[in-house]
Amino acid sequence: MKVLITGKGGQLAWELVRLAPQAFEIISVGREQLDISNENQVVDFIDSTKPDLVINAAAYTAVDQAEKDSVTAYAVNEHGVKYLAQACKKINARILHISTDFIFDGTSTSPYQTDAKPNPLNNYGASKLAGELALNEIFPQASVIVRTAWVYSANGNNFVKSMLRLMQEKPQLGIVYDQVGTPTWAKGLAQWLWIIAAKPEVTGTYHWTDAGVASWYDFALAIQELGLEKGLLKSAIPVFPIRTSAYPTPAKRPAFSVIDKTSAEMVSELNTTHWRKQLSAMMDEIL
Ligand SMILES: NC(=O)c1ccc[n+]([C@@H]2O[C@H](COP(=O)([O-])OP(=O)(O)OC[C@H]3O[C@@H](n4cnc5c(N)ncnc54)[C@H](OP(=O)(O)O)[C@@H]3O)[C@@H](O)[C@H]2O)c1
Repeated sequence: MKVLITGKGGQLAWELVRLAPQAFEIISVGREQLDISNENQVVDFIDSTKPDLVINAAAYTAVDQAEKDSVTAYAVNEHGVKYLAQACKKINARILHISTDFIFDGTSTSPYQTDAKPNPLNNYGASKLAGELALNEIFPQASVIVRTAWVYSANGNNFVKSMLRLMQEKPQLGIVYDQVGTPTWAKGLAQWLWIIAAKPEVTGTYHWTDAGVASWYDFALAIQELGLEKGLLKSAIPVFPIRTSAYPTPAKRPAFSVIDKTSAEMVSELNTTHWRKQLSAMMDEIL
């Protein structure tokens, strides 16, 4: 089976490539080889390479930047997905697409089910939702959408690596405690995607994060604790819980981002692992 992975260089694409099953032929491309927001390029590339499956790990992920540059956010996250869906439909290639917890408004008090009503709070979330809608309209019969959240990996810029750097540069840190979600190692999501890649009968929308719940403050404390334990940090600094209102950002973020993983676990027969265990394993990789 020939698999095209978009967004090479991104956190998830990197994990997908390194975990790719031997039996699959992998074509992994970055924006320079395949800009998904360019319709002609998408059509030509898919027509000429003829993949059996496309995993779309490319996205405009600069959440705050998207408030100023919604045109580019929609060009990639909506139109890019639309072009991929049309091109895949033409050659009957299956498509696995990644979306986000940010399509929800965070007002729920229990984990979001896959059919919960979306209500994005920012342009990034709205553009990702538009991508989901485009894919569902064009090619639902051969597509899977998996929503994830709070992603990090050893490759790329993310909260874990920023915290480790800031904990060495700053005398103290204030981290928000009133946004709750689940930190997710991109490697676990990549494992799930490869299982689904081998199950052509699976379609529809799923949620995948690691297990458990944390605030950004809890997450930061765990990073410091494990960083000290593993020798990635030399000394502890005070880390204070602060409210979101004390750390204003251009994009509003959902206060509650926990998503229900039950159907994703059932369809893959893969159980989610607690986020702290995954964090520890990822930190071992950057030692
Ligand atoms: N990171 C998170 O916390 C998070 C949370 C929820 C959902 N997700 C979703 O998970 C998926 C993977 O995220 P990630 O963390 O791996 O993102 P990432 O590290 O930001 O990688 C995204 C990749 O897409 C590429 N890209 C951007 N515009 C493109 C275009 N027009 N054509 C082709 N490639 C393009 C980027 O290239 P450049 O570097 O050149 O821009 C980058 O390599 C995305 O769908 C994202 O929306 C992520």
